Amino acid sequence: MSLQEIKIFLKQKLASTIDAVELTSLMGMLIEAVTGWNRMQQIVNINTELTKEHQAQLENYAEQLLNGKPIQYILGKAWFMGNELMVNEHVLIPRPETEELVEWIISYASIINKSLSILDIGTGSGCIPIALKLALSNCIVTGLDISKEALAVAQNNAKNLNAPIHWVEKDILNTAALETSYDIIVSNPPYIPLREKKNMQEQILNFEPSIALFVSNEDPLIYYRVIAKIGKQNLSKNGQLFFEIHYDQGNSILALLDELNYHAELRKDSFGKNRMIRASLK
Ligand SMILES: C[S@@+](CC[C@H](N)C(=O)[O-])C[C@H]1O[C@@H](n2cnc3c(N)ncnc32)[C@H](O)[C@@H]1O
Repeated sequence: MSLQEIKIFLKQKLASTIDAVELTSLMGMLIEAVTGWNRMQQIVNINTELTKEHQAQLENYAEQLLNGKPIQYILGKAWFMGNELMVNEHVLIPRPETEELVEWIISYASIINKSLSILDIGTGSGCIPIALKLALSNCIVTGLDISKEALAVAQNNAKNLNAPIHWVEKDILNTAALETSYDIIVSNPPYIPLREKKNMQEQILNFEPSIALFVSNEDPLIYYRVIAKIGKQNLSKNGQLFFEIHYDQGNSILALLDELNYHAELRKDSFGKNRMIRASLK
């Protein structure tokens, strides 16, 4: 089959499940991953015959898309603040909202203008500490996660992007205090109450790690409370907490932080949803 023929074949296969504009973009990415041709080369090669291996690979990818697997897991990579990161089933696909949190930290740290020590709790793919280290090279950055498998992905990403970072494997919910003090503690912890599962896309439920997503209905703010308590012991003078939050939990987290003696500021993301918080001890 030529590239043209396989594109028609795959589009027919996927048209009923994926919207046409998205499908064009996904096909371009898959074809590039298999053949190495960028979009311009795909136009030039539209009548070129594909090898049997390339055809089989594209059909296999299309089958995975049909089963709802996110393109990032199919290709094993995702982009975060311009950095290409390896991802697999052990890590969350980094989200654009999280980029906005990182941008906030970078602008805060740039104003402070000194070498800061930064800890990211629940680091997943390492997207947050890697982006921070690459933007703020004089900072000392640590990434922490409970998942050994996630840390392996994060370490690999940091190595590929030349970002020297310290890694810690720890269950933060069973940690009273850390050994070191930090100027910034950032976290995008699990924050979706289990009751919301029934309204979520299968694409997320079937493929993203539930340890990265869910908290109990009874205590949905557990990570924020535990991390804020740790902050009372492990934030250095003028230290800051930065959190990504569920858009619905802004006021409850502000109240929780106030009770724990923090000043806090809530910010919206570019979709206008309450999405991030900065807090420092009163
Ligand atoms: C929402 S994901 C965030 C991943 C990444 N920071 C990002 O923004 O894409 C939450 C992360 O917290 C980790 N995690 C869950 N429970 C934890 C715990 N008790 N202690 C430490 N890390 C935990 C998960 O493994 C997951 O990587």
